[in-house]
Amino acid sequence: MANKLGIRGYDYLEFYVGTAKVWAYWFQKALNLKVVAYSGPETGVKDKVSYLLEKNNLKILVSSPVKPSNYELYNFIVSHGDGVKRWSLNVNDVEQAYKHAITHGAVPAGGIRELKDSNGIVYEASIKLYDDAEITFVNRDDYKGLFRPGFDLPRLDMNIETADSGLQIVDHIVGNVRENEMNFWVDYMNAALNFETFIDFGPGDIGTKYSALLSKVVRSEDSIIRNPVNEPYQAERKSQIQEYIEEFCGTGIQHVALRTDNIIETIANLRRNGVEFLDVPDTYYDLMKERNLQISEDLDELKEHRILVDHEGDGYLLQIFTKPVGDRPTFFFEVIQRRGESHGFGKGNFQALFESIEREQAARGNL
Ligand code: FE2
Repeated sequence: MANKLGIRGYDYLEFYVGTAKVWAYWFQKALNLKVVAYSGPETGVKDKVSYLLEKNNLKILVSSPVKPSNYELYNFIVSHGDGVKRWSLNVNDVEQAYKHAITHGAVPAGGIRELKDSNGIVYEASIKLYDDAEITFVNRDDYKGLFRPGFDLPRLDMNIETADSGLQIVDHIVGNVRENEMNFWVDYMNAALNFETFIDFGPGDIGTKYSALLSKVVRSEDSIIRNPVNEPYQAERKSQIQEYIEEFCGTGIQHVALRTDNIIETIANLRRNGVEFLDVPDTYYDLMKERNLQISEDLDELKEHRILVDHEGDGYLLQIFTKPVGDRPTFFFEVIQRRGESHGFGKGNFQALFESIEREQAARGNL
């Protein structure tokens, strides 16, 4: 089934960061992406540098301001630290998708942009999301060049030794909002993008007795885009969602899940590349043995790499979460593998995971 907005899938994610070159190194070394394009003063963009990194169907853009005049980037970084500014959707027709969004309540962020050079034309249009993020519609069907006008071949060859991550594509993108804001943003995305709510975790569904959250998941009609939105929920101690909002100084993207076809190999290699993951207690795997799950993977290998498993419907998912990637305890990545008809997000793992996150929160004095 197609979707009304002509969405083909996730396109690029853009991070606003303090030093794009250093983040480009991290994405290459740690996640095994490759820099394929660059834009900056040398390519005619005076106040911003961007590195485009790719791996299979994954596109990540890291951008930094290089002149004080670039208020948009500086303001983001001063408030939020390094984080995701926008996620983008590749669409058949940018104008049609954008018009649908704004006539259904989306707040415009800059109108339709026609970016042209001798290689053709790229269309983009953005709408606002959360406090300071954006969703961008993009189409580059009529563009033969690299990424978009203003980009050229990278001017550096980092030649980094890195193990193959096998990362394929964005699986889902999660936002954190304040108490009582979740329904607003769920309704906003459902109306603007013609999405629907398909999972609703209420009070008591997710959390330990100390920290809790509410979560709803919106998706496109054809289910190719699925995005959870979380808000904090009252418990004895501070919700991890509340900690994010305080440390990020606002609402925004909490994590991006990246899909692999072989999570054991992926995690073994990411650990080799220096990526740090949240730990889970041995008892999680003792319980798994008792649950006697029907899975193809070897339980000892999953335990060795601290990979979590959750069964739902006719399939199951394997997942693991990195520690926060930047200096603030805000944005992190998830790595996920889906087996069979698996559409969930690992609700069965939240208990083990929360306990792990709470240990980290306590170490930061934020619990
Ligand atoms: Fe997730």
